[in-house]
Amino acid sequence: MPVIPPECNESSTACLHTRIQKRLRTIYAAGLDRSITDLTFLDAVTARDRSGKTFLVFSSNNYLGLTHHPEVRQAASEAAMQNGTSSTGSRLITGGVLRASDLEKELAAFKHTEKALLFNTGYMANLGVLYALARKGDLIFSDELNHASIIDGCRISGASVLVYRHNDMADLENKLRQNPPGRRNERFIVTDGVFSMDGDICPLPELAALKAKYDCLLMVDDAHAEGVIGPDGGGTASYYGLFGAIDLQTGTLSKSLASEGGYIAASEEIITYLKNRSRPFVFSTFLSPSDTAAAQTALKILKRDGAALLGRLRHNTDRIRNGLTEANIPVIPGTTPLVPIMVGSAKKASAIDAFLKKQGILLSAVRPPSVPMGKARLRLTVTAAHSEEHLDRVMAALKAAFRQC
Ligand SMILES: Cc1ncc(COP(=O)(O)O)c(C=O)c1O
Repeated sequence: MPVIPPECNESSTACLHTRIQKRLRTIYAAGLDRSITDLTFLDAVTARDRSGKTFLVFSSNNYLGLTHHPEVRQAASEAAMQNGTSSTGSRLITGGVLRASDLEKELAAFKHTEKALLFNTGYMANLGVLYALARKGDLIFSDELNHASIIDGCRISGASVLVYRHNDMADLENKLRQNPPGRRNERFIVTDGVFSMDGDICPLPELAALKAKYDCLLMVDDAHAEGVIGPDGGGTASYYGLFGAIDLQTGTLSKSLASEGGYIAASEEIITYLKNRSRPFVFSTFLSPSDTAAAQTALKILKRDGAALLGRLRHNTDRIRNGLTEANIPVIPGTTPLVPIMVGSAKKASAIDAFLKKQGILLSAVRPPSVPMGKARLRLTVTAAHSEEHLDRVMAALKAAFRQC
């Protein structure tokens, strides 16, 4: 626990110093303080801290394990050697490396859309799309478990937000029926494809039917879906075989695609508009040449070796999910490699997290405000790079953790 200075004497409630101290005290008293562990990653699933202790990592989003693939690493370092280490400005001002436009074409083909546009993170893609397309008077129907970047995009857009119960299509339809749009207003339905904290998949066929029935735009965030679901790892549309049902597909390069950055895949008209009006695109420095090269190479590998990589990911996911369920560990049921283990109390989740760290396993507790009060959990992510022995180790450690904590 850091040293928190004594309370400031000022009586004014506007005293920022006092306000921050009070908030920090509350955070620490509730056991909800957060800290950062500095690590060196030795490979896709092993890391070492400053003391030299090594950890088996079950908390990354490196689903295909491509961060340490020799081709990806080589492409990233060659891009830095050829183009330098930074793009040094907004793409509209300083231009972008040639391969960024190539990557956009490849992403558009991967997502079966006319065009794609890169952003500097997935967070910025969600923010930038909603900010630019929705406005005051519009209505956004948002799943209650949507990612924070969607929530923030909704807020910043100025549109009215109606939150529907998680994956509850009856609740969504009620809200759509009761909230018709104004004359010049749009309605958007916005959802994660694979939910970032529960690991379940949105019901796209039903969402697409409601979109058509109530004439809305449908946006799906595929951050945890691409490289994970669908026969080609193409994400939610590919998983359901429903290409063309989604108007706005956002995604990230930072999970299966072993890099950093985000994107939106949509019609040519929407992408052209976003290039002109999406503030995070216009006013922020673009991806580095290495980021672009790494993602482009990871996408190439996914296309080339997808069957083997996705097969391995499927196998590891099934083994972990079945093994933990058989051991009565409270996993939220599902089929994706994002495996939430419900704990409830934040303190207990932190205790299990600490216990696992002692065993050399990094599997982080997720606590409020990232999840609702009383719904703290361990968020286990399995990757294609984990071996059978890794899976055995984490399952044994989790069994011991639940016995002891
Ligand atoms: C569902 C979802 N959308 C968007 C993001 C943001 O992506 P990025 O980390 O590239 O900003 C995340 C992740 O971290 C996420 O889980």
